[in-house]
Amino acid sequence: MTTTQPLSLTSPLMSTYSRFPVTLVKGKGSYVWDDQGVKYLDFTSGIATCNLGHVPDAVKQKVEEQLQNLWHCSNLYHIPNQEQLAALLTANSCGDQVFFCNSGAEANEAAIKLARRYANKVKGSGSSEVVTFTQSFHGRTLATLSATGQEKIQHGFAPLMPGFSYLPFNDIQALDQLAVRKPAAVLLEMIQGEGGVIPAEQEWVNELAQVCQENDILLMVDEIQTGMGRTGTLFAYQQYGIEPDVISIAKGLGSGFPIGAIIAKEKAAKAFEPGSHGSTFGGNPLATAAGLATITYLLDSNVLDNAKKMSEYLDVQLQSLKEKYTVIKEIRGKGLLKGLVLESGALEIVQKAIGNQLLILTAGPNVVRILPPLPVTKAEIDEFTIALEKSIQSTEKGE
Ligand SMILES: Cc1ncc(COP(=O)(O)O)c(C=O)c1O
Repeated sequence: MTTTQPLSLTSPLMSTYSRFPVTLVKGKGSYVWDDQGVKYLDFTSGIATCNLGHVPDAVKQKVEEQLQNLWHCSNLYHIPNQEQLAALLTANSCGDQVFFCNSGAEANEAAIKLARRYANKVKGSGSSEVVTFTQSFHGRTLATLSATGQEKIQHGFAPLMPGFSYLPFNDIQALDQLAVRKPAAVLLEMIQGEGGVIPAEQEWVNELAQVCQENDILLMVDEIQTGMGRTGTLFAYQQYGIEPDVISIAKGLGSGFPIGAIIAKEKAAKAFEPGSHGSTFGGNPLATAAGLATITYLLDSNVLDNAKKMSEYLDVQLQSLKEKYTVIKEIRGKGLLKGLVLESGALEIVQKAIGNQLLILTAGPNVVRILPPLPVTKAEIDEFTIALEKSIQSTEKGE
């Protein structure tokens, strides 16, 4: 049986990951290859990062062009790719200005800093607290793990950063607390990814947005996993009819090239001024070449339409498996971020799938997370369905 193995003490790498026994060396489109030449169908997309598939030609070409010219320069100078990428992000969201960084956690750090500064400098009164939700995931830095509503992520890192409190997710009654506490901001995922692929409910989101507006609380959405087309629209919040004040993004923004950002409405963005925040690498010419090519492709091709259509097709396939196998309790998610809720044993199915040349993920102990690239085809979904079914069958037989 395939198992996950912590690295031994003799490894030069710290054992922060339980790795699967696979070494990937090449990728193209929906497929990756290991160092033995074995080909796998990749329905993880590098955890919602390679949204256009592996090594997408449109992005590769722009990064190669940029490699010939300038790799890095400081943010003390103008960076055209950065300005163009910011213009596209603001033109296609409800935000007005962008700050670039290098990862999801850093994007949420920037959002948290912006919220505190908004409370202290712009509002000038009230709390600088940020409210988040149970089962959320916002990153691994000290501030973002403190923002994360899961004890397992915080375990052993006390003292946590002060200034965070947590409310139950999707609980309308609990929103009364916001009007009482009047925090600086709330931070939420539209679909909790790491927490188990749990979509925010429309009614709860409506109420939350209204309470935020009435009490001058910044509405901040963490779209690090749900953004860049993953749920069938550029951002997931666009399917909820709300206008967040701050949007954090990373993962899919650079197609695998490290880049993160926050997009903020002017009301919030003006809390930052020269010297309030910064990053050496944030938005450098190479990273923003990847970002610019990625978003241009997302907007100009039919890939978002494809994601919507393939989401429906994938639902049909997953439903047919649910009818056959009682271990499957529910199918959740939006677009191409799907969760297969099981009675138990998600990791076992993910491990069996590797033997069937399929890469998928868990999201907690009983959810299998499925993240195909957005250009996925019907034939690839059929291939996935066969490999997943085999994995479920061999788990049930205890093979
Ligand atoms: C919703 C969400 N927020 C934040 C993060 C942290 O992003 P990063 O690992 O790039 O720091 C993740 C990563 O999985 C995420 O899914």
